[in-house]
Amino acid sequence: MLWHGGDDPAPGLARAAVAEPHSRSMDFTLDRKPSAAEFRDLLVRSTLSERRPIDDIQCLQGMLDHATLIATCWIEDRLIGIARSVTDYHYCCYLSDLAVDSEFQRQGIGARLIALTQTRLQTHCKIILLSAPAASGYYPHIGFVSHPSAWILPASQAVKTPSAK
Ligand SMILES: CC(C)(COP(=O)(O)OP(=O)(O)OC[C@H]1O[C@@H](n2cnc3c(N)ncnc32)[C@H](O)[C@@H]1OP(=O)(O)O)[C@@H](O)C(=O)NCCC(=O)NCCS
Repeated sequence: MLWHGGDDPAPGLARAAVAEPHSRSMDFTLDRKPSAAEFRDLLVRSTLSERRPIDDIQCLQGMLDHATLIATCWIEDRLIGIARSVTDYHYCCYLSDLAVDSEFQRQGIGARLIALTQTRLQTHCKIILLSAPAASGYYPHIGFVSHPSAWILPASQAVKTPSAK
């Protein structure tokens, strides 16, 4: 799906027109999985690397291999944006990683990647995510509502079962 700044990749879902982002066309797609090296490189260029396991290439590969929806934006062979989600398509979609190359931020790419993701979700499927501190103003701006009761079980924490108490 090519986007030259004016075309809308997800009619009715993408936000209003944004400024011309780049003279070369951007390709938004759900059908092109980046390599672990490309993913890592984008995490670094977006600064999301501060919060992702970029030194564990096996983990990055697993994140790509087992994601159910990967929306990406490319300029030719350069990955400039990604929305990586795990979903059942019907009830919930966990948007784990949203990252846009710093050089291309605030040009509508992040919102368009989410809109493209939504095109594959059924009517009642909600998108859920945990925001990085720097992006906490972003999500309400594009329509997300905060949830007062989100909970995480850290990987190092075994769940406390009744017998373990
Ligand atoms: C957060 C991020 C994904 C946003 O993507 P983006 O392509 O830069 O954002 P968009 O261009 O889609 O922004 C859409 C709107 O939100 C606004 N916006 C963008 N970043 C914002 C922020 N951090 N806080 C508040 N508003 C923001 C834009 O100005 C734009 O507003 P407008 O429609 O009124 O013009 C991107 O900045 C990024 O990769 N940041 C670093 C990694 C990160 O924090 N990822 C989120 C992990 S939860």
